Amino acid sequence: MVSRVIPVDAFDLVIFGGTGDLARRKILPGLFRRFAAGQMTDDARVIGASRSEHSDDEYRAIVRDALEEFVTKAELDPQQVDGFLNLVHFVTIDAMGTGGWKKLAKTVRKDVINAFYFSVAPSLFGALAERLHEHGIAHENTRIVVEKPFGRDLESARALNATLAEHFDETQIYRIDHYLGKETVQNLMAVRFANVLFEPLWNAQYVDHIQITVAETVGVGGRGTYYDKSGAMRDMVQNHLMQLLCLIAMEPPSRFSPDSVRDEKLKVIRALEPVPSHHIVRGQYEAKSGEPSYRDDVENPRSLSESFIAMRVHVSNWRWADTPFFIRTGKKLKARQSEIAVVFKDAPHAIFGQKAGTHRNILTIRLQPNEGINLGVTIKEPGPGGMRLVDVPLDMTFADALGPEAEEVRDAYERLIMDVIRGNQTLFMRGDEVEAAWAWTDPIIEGWEQRGEAPKPYEPGTSGPEDAQMLLMRDGRKWREIKE
Ligand code: BG6
Repeated sequence: MVSRVIPVDAFDLVIFGGTGDLARRKILPGLFRRFAAGQMTDDARVIGASRSEHSDDEYRAIVRDALEEFVTKAELDPQQVDGFLNLVHFVTIDAMGTGGWKKLAKTVRKDVINAFYFSVAPSLFGALAERLHEHGIAHENTRIVVEKPFGRDLESARALNATLAEHFDETQIYRIDHYLGKETVQNLMAVRFANVLFEPLWNAQYVDHIQITVAETVGVGGRGTYYDKSGAMRDMVQNHLMQLLCLIAMEPPSRFSPDSVRDEKLKVIRALEPVPSHHIVRGQYEAKSGEPSYRDDVENPRSLSESFIAMRVHVSNWRWADTPFFIRTGKKLKARQSEIAVVFKDAPHAIFGQKAGTHRNILTIRLQPNEGINLGVTIKEPGPGGMRLVDVPLDMTFADALGPEAEEVRDAYERLIMDVIRGNQTLFMRGDEVEAAWAWTDPIIEGWEQRGEAPKPYEPGTSGPEDAQMLLMRDGRKWREIKE
């Protein structure tokens, strides 16, 4: 397969929070990889901005360190690293005050694409937006990129949207949900809408239920203060899992354009039913073999926040009437495994008799690790002895099917940043989508807060609390195994 990297136009990307964790871990390594791939050319510039004082050279040293830490050795070609660092600059900025803005205004070139990445606390978004205008830096082609968390409830999300809207048009605002940048998530749309095979079966008549699992092995680590105020519901469900659910459940958009896709996703969110408390299981990991418990990690001995959540969710529309969507996510689980499984119904009439057993087709979309798609098909077991049936996988692991190039864009951030430069908002959340997601999430959280419910303890290295199994077993269904 021939690589088809199309270079993007010249741009200046300013990263507010340029020395922060996200910049070091994701944004800068992602940009470097796109530079190494030839997508970002010598015309581009990356301008780090933060409160700290650094010369360009000192900042380049910080960037070099970040690349050494977060890019694999094999990718760190010294010449390319030097080439990339040549494009890197730094401006000291006081987001709330006046310091540094004049210099930034002079540094940013007006005749190329301008993007400003707000990789800072959301409380600074308003101030940054305001300063960019005050100092004549923003213009109608300026794009801003904002990170999650986008609010912590409907009210704060609305306020944030209103603040940004004072200074920028919706077409200039790129709200990141990095799950949308994952290769398989986009492939989900290709599988659904570029093949005739699945769409006729993609409804309540043929689908028994859908499972969405995002299991992590890591705990909350050093992010305790943030995480304890969020819990898995705000940290993962309101955004990442919700987006996955939308892509699975939405109607085919009329075209693959930002608003066509986002209109359809919005309809799904608006069709979500309120979730009764007996359809929710929350959990918190315990201590194990000397490793801290969740409460130790967040340094809050009485914390009632959840590091695990499983829910039965319903999309109330014609396509999905009475088809449950089971979603779960958690930290310190058995394995890192994210997948969506579409479990089809039994064949309507069993012609092979009882001995053949019951068999179901399951379409599994694996996000990570080993991205790929797998369709479980029932066939005859080879050999004499009658009609014995066996389920075999039609497996399409992308790395096997497409070769090393399937690996080329490995991190979601790489693609998303390039989409910002290209001006393509399809994989970014629109303001009304985020608000609708909070409108659904808020009453669920308020419910367990009012009831003063404590999450169920679970042992690290398992699939979460036992009760999560019951959520499906109650009506004869079963979670797919989280495999080590
Ligand atoms: C982030 C959450 O948005 O996504 C983290 O804040 C979580 O808590 C992370 O660990 C998971 O992302 P990924 O890409 O590793 O699945």
